[in-house]
Amino acid sequence: MRCSLVSVFSVLITVANAGLVHVPVVNEVLDSASPSSTSVAAQSHSVNGAEATSTSSSYWLADITHQGIAAFNTDPSTYVVFRNVMDYGATGDGVTDDTAAINAAISDGGRYGPSSGESSTTTPAIVYFPAGTYLISSSIIDYYFTQLIGDPNSLPIIKASAAFPATYMIDGDQYQDDGDEGWTATNVFFRQIRNMILDMTDVPATTGAVGIHWPTGQATSIQNVEILMSSESGTQHEGLFIENGSGGFVVDVTTSGGLYGIYVGNQQFTMRNLKISDAVTGISQIWDWGWTYIGLTISNCTTAVAVNTGGSDDQAVGSVTIIDSVIEDCPVFIDTAWQSSSHSNGSLILENIYLDNVPVAVQDNGDTILAGSSGETTIDGWGQGHKYIPDGPTNFQGTIAAPTRPTALLASGTSDYYTKTKPQYAASPVSSFLSVRDAGAKGDGTTDDTAAIQAALESAVSSSQIVFFDQGTYKVTTTIDVPAGSRMVGESYPVIMASGDTFADIDTPIPVVRIGTAGDSGSIEWSDMIVSTQGSTPGAVLIEWNLAATEGSGMWDVHARIGGFDGSDLQVAECPTTASVSATCEAAHMSMHITSDASNVYLENTWFWTADHDLDNADSTQISIYTGRGLLVEGENIWLYGTAVEHHSLYQYQFSGAKNVVAGFIQTETPYYQPDPDAASSPYPTNTTLNDPDYSTICSSTSGNCDALGLRILDSDTVFIYGAGLYSFFDSYSTTCSDDPGPEDCQSNIFSVEGTTSDLWVYTLSTVGTTNMVTVNGSALAPYRDNIATYADTIAYFTL
Ligand SMILES: *[C@@H]1O[C@H](CO)[C@@H](O)[C@H](O)[C@H]1NC(C)=O
Ligand SMILES: *[C@@H]1O[C@H](CO)[C@@H](O)[C@H](O)[C@H]1NC(C)=O
Ligand SMILES: *[C@@H]1O[C@H](CO)[C@@H](O)[C@H](O)[C@H]1NC(C)=O
Ligand SMILES: *[C@@H]1O[C@H](CO)[C@@H](O)[C@H](O)[C@H]1NC(C)=O
Ligand SMILES: *[C@@H]1O[C@H](CO)[C@@H](O)[C@H](O)[C@H]1NC(C)=O
Repeated sequence: MRCSLVSVFSVLITVANAGLVHVPVVNEVLDSASPSSTSVAAQSHSVNGAEATSTSSSYWLADITHQGIAAFNTDPSTYVVFRNVMDYGATGDGVTDDTAAINAAISDGGRYGPSSGESSTTTPAIVYFPAGTYLISSSIIDYYFTQLIGDPNSLPIIKASAAFPATYMIDGDQYQDDGDEGWTATNVFFRQIRNMILDMTDVPATTGAVGIHWPTGQATSIQNVEILMSSESGTQHEGLFIENGSGGFVVDVTTSGGLYGIYVGNQQFTMRNLKISDAVTGISQIWDWGWTYIGLTISNCTTAVAVNTGGSDDQAVGSVTIIDSVIEDCPVFIDTAWQSSSHSNGSLILENIYLDNVPVAVQDNGDTILAGSSGETTIDGWGQGHKYIPDGPTNFQGTIAAPTRPTALLASGTSDYYTKTKPQYAASPVSSFLSVRDAGAKGDGTTDDTAAIQAALESAVSSSQIVFFDQGTYKVTTTIDVPAGSRMVGESYPVIMASGDTFADIDTPIPVVRIGTAGDSGSIEWSDMIVSTQGSTPGAVLIEWNLAATEGSGMWDVHARIGGFDGSDLQVAECPTTASVSATCEAAHMSMHITSDASNVYLENTWFWTADHDLDNADSTQISIYTGRGLLVEGENIWLYGTAVEHHSLYQYQFSGAKNVVAGFIQTETPYYQPDPDAASSPYPTNTTLNDPDYSTICSSTSGNCDALGLRILDSDTVFIYGAGLYSFFDSYSTTCSDDPGPEDCQSNIFSVEGTTSDLWVYTLSTVGTTNMVTVNGSALAPYRDNIATYADTIAYFTL
């Protein structure tokens, strides 16, 4: 996260936001629209409230005994983690106004709302919606660390009343009296919305109602949500609105109708499996540095994807990558305002796109640049921007060679990459789950739960049960071994927290959670959890993955959070930025290690975060926590969708001897304290067994700061990166070095390709605060000044 980019976007965003919600303005795109006035009610969704409430459905997450505790809450014995909106007076009858009851379920218990502007790790909550139709007349106000979850077996319908105003049905960051969002959008972490229908079809089409307002940062997700809007001519409805923030993940979201299916801007984001139909503009990209769309299905929109915000001279969109998508019955797929120039705004990559009845594939300032057809056609590879193959930059706009995708990375029988949504075990009864608290773990943050958790994991595998981690902080003092066949799911991100002498030696890396041991085969599924450390733990490897698996083994919404929270002993008191480096604040050898034994590892929406600030401090005060390495990948057949790695001293991502990796969007930040000490003087000594970067060599050929690499690719084969943002905002906690448009000298190098690496394709690479965007075998290849785009510097297409 990065707090202070307000000035850069405020002008643009204010305009966009005003046009959107406060003062509905008919977008120019509407002029060419010809939507008929057919009602959305004619569509396939059943939005019959009476029918929904009478459906008796059960979902294990609702039915299981709720005994989670917020370990570091001021009163864990009374704080309620799991809240059913019915217990707060919601009726779900489709007639009664349930707004107040839903908001009471969210706010109950001294939680942190937007008016506080504060974050908190001590007030986690699941707010559960059983099947039913919940009528609302004003916004549902989301709080920090909140999971809004519906019954996946019978989706609850949140229905906006006919009098619903021009505002958000779910407001993820409510505007305050000072005219600004409550939270700094880049600081909003650890929240979800899943399994619900948002229905705006009773709201007059002329009212600018919005499904979800969602300015967020990392470790957030929206999953399995349908948004129903008016498709009447002149409709002002809008499905999803994001105006800023630092990342997040959206998957399996369907919208119908609306002026916009989604209207979104943020530094970087990953969205997968969006189905957008009957909107005037399917996706309007307000601004970004980078954005990765995987598996779009857009049908019957006037424009499928508009990336032309700002026009040719002031393109607000840095870059977009779209792969494995279907566009049907839209006059125009892409509307862009790109022009060949020394700037690289508006970079775009399209790969493996199927068009059916899309006459214009790409339109640039009104001109057809790539024709579509009235029938079926495919785009294998197309792009625009600056390319380096590997020398450059060369401006290009047109067909590009696409990589040959290894079959091992594909969904069986298709040319699309394999994907798998986070399992929710919707069909499993409560008896399929084994609660770790029932198995004797306390989760109170002080009891040593190592043995209880280990026993629970082994028992669950033998009984084919799914391990349920009730909310809690589970202190462990040695490695937890996760056997093949395990399935683990958390209740609002419970924490496994490593503590003690086992993890105290900086020269002896010890896994905290080990997924299989070398030579093991089989699969696991792991979701909705956090792995952390407590106090001085420089030997801790938070997750070590050794399992040789088949497709489908992986983790979803599992995060590393190192320092910066109550109970970590790594907060403002212990690790102020003014302290000199000491073992007290050395808190991990590595966040995650996918070893050379591992294969078929699927990561979706994971964030490996060494804290840069204290989440439980009212002022979000910065802290200095020292960790060694981020994500090291040495295995084969790896999917990394929507992953981020931040603030590790030696590197964020390193692919070393890896084979068959598909990744996008990947995002990194360099530690804010660097170069004091820099990467070469990191408290973590270089380990040749781990092929750590040798900074004395890497930095010798360039002047300037020698800070941690964001991405290093060493001796790897077949690596495809669909969107990367490698950011270095700080120099000893000052941001002068990353001020736009230069000098971009927080550090010299951030992306290093070395050794025998081959078949490497990098699309829409953006960097911040970095002098050389790419180095190959130590030679600087792409100076930032040749690729100035938005706030970030961007290259559309790099291949070796
Ligand atoms: C986010 O956008 C809003 C609306 O324009 C603006 O008020 C706010 O300052 C922005 N925040 C950040 C962190 O960019
Ligand atoms: C296409 O979308 C319009 C709204 O833009 C809608 O009225 C019409 O019914 C849709 N057509 C089909 C075939 O779905
Ligand atoms: C590129 O983006 C920046 C920041 O949004 C803007 O100031 C500049 O005018 C844009 N350049 C072009 C050529 O669009
Ligand atoms: C280097 O890493 C290897 C492999 O993880 C480990 O066995 C060894 O103890 C480490 N050595 C030092 C000095 O860190
Ligand atoms: C980088 O160096 C290695 C030797 O370590 C060599 O095999 C490879 O071809 C070089 N790559 C490039 C792009 O020069």
